[in-house]
Amino acid sequence: AGADGATERVVLRCPDGASAEVYLYGATITSWKSRGAERLFVSALAKLDGSRPIRGGIPLVFPQFGPGELPQHGFARTRKWELVSTEARGISAVANLELRDDETTRASAWPYAFSLRYTITLTATTLSAIMKIENFDDREFSFTALQHTYFGVPDIAATTVTGLDGCVYADKVRGTTGTTEDRAQVTVAANEDRVYADVPGIVTVACGNQRVRIQRFNFKDIVLWNPWAAKAAEMSDFGDSEYKNMICVEPGAVVERVTLRPAQMLSCGQLLTVEDAADAEL
Ligand code: BG6
Repeated sequence: AGADGATERVVLRCPDGASAEVYLYGATITSWKSRGAERLFVSALAKLDGSRPIRGGIPLVFPQFGPGELPQHGFARTRKWELVSTEARGISAVANLELRDDETTRASAWPYAFSLRYTITLTATTLSAIMKIENFDDREFSFTALQHTYFGVPDIAATTVTGLDGCVYADKVRGTTGTTEDRAQVTVAANEDRVYADVPGIVTVACGNQRVRIQRFNFKDIVLWNPWAAKAAEMSDFGDSEYKNMICVEPGAVVERVTLRPAQMLSCGQLLTVEDAADAEL
């Protein structure tokens, strides 16, 4: 762990060599290594000094997905979180982080008393990221939330996403809604920005012999995003050709707002499992 301020981070390690790195800034997971490979993408131009959201890894979107009254994607990804504890538990390593309301969030367009606890658990082949959102206010509040997962892929042209077949999506690039996905294996070959609603089961991201399975808890929706070349060129914290090596598959509750009454709590998140094909299966 570093000294203090925005650059402080914690590294989790498992006995078999798996590791994960988490910045307290935004509770952003910036690295996940499992079975010898880095699974997440972080831009070489990402700002890691707390001056802007980290471009890559798993930034947390809360309490607002996208544009709105708050800054884009809310404030959780730009606040410094408290590291509550880290522990090694046999074959797993765990980090607990927390974000509470403070003067800044209470002065924002989302002024409620809340606690957001985030538990990251690493094993040899899994990373689980669970958020517990609790209402400490005397009013009910509502929000959207998402884990903005940037997967690193060797080649976007050979990358497929499964589990979206039959789901209805809003296409933010084309400005359309209500389209049904008819592909069992979704590929990306242009700027794509889609919100798939109510995705029922397991989603996978695969490229070559690498595959990660995504299981979700109380995150019904999946956002699929790749900026492609022209958008990438407009972004100061994203390299011009990095779109070839990433795909965002983002589990969240974003199509419908979630409402919590006072003292109510919601647990939501994802479990990622590496399922690389054995060499024999190639
Ligand atoms: C995605 C959104 O989740 O995040 C896109 O669907 C957005 O519309 C992208 O462009 C990146 O957002 P930001 O704020 O990190 O540049």
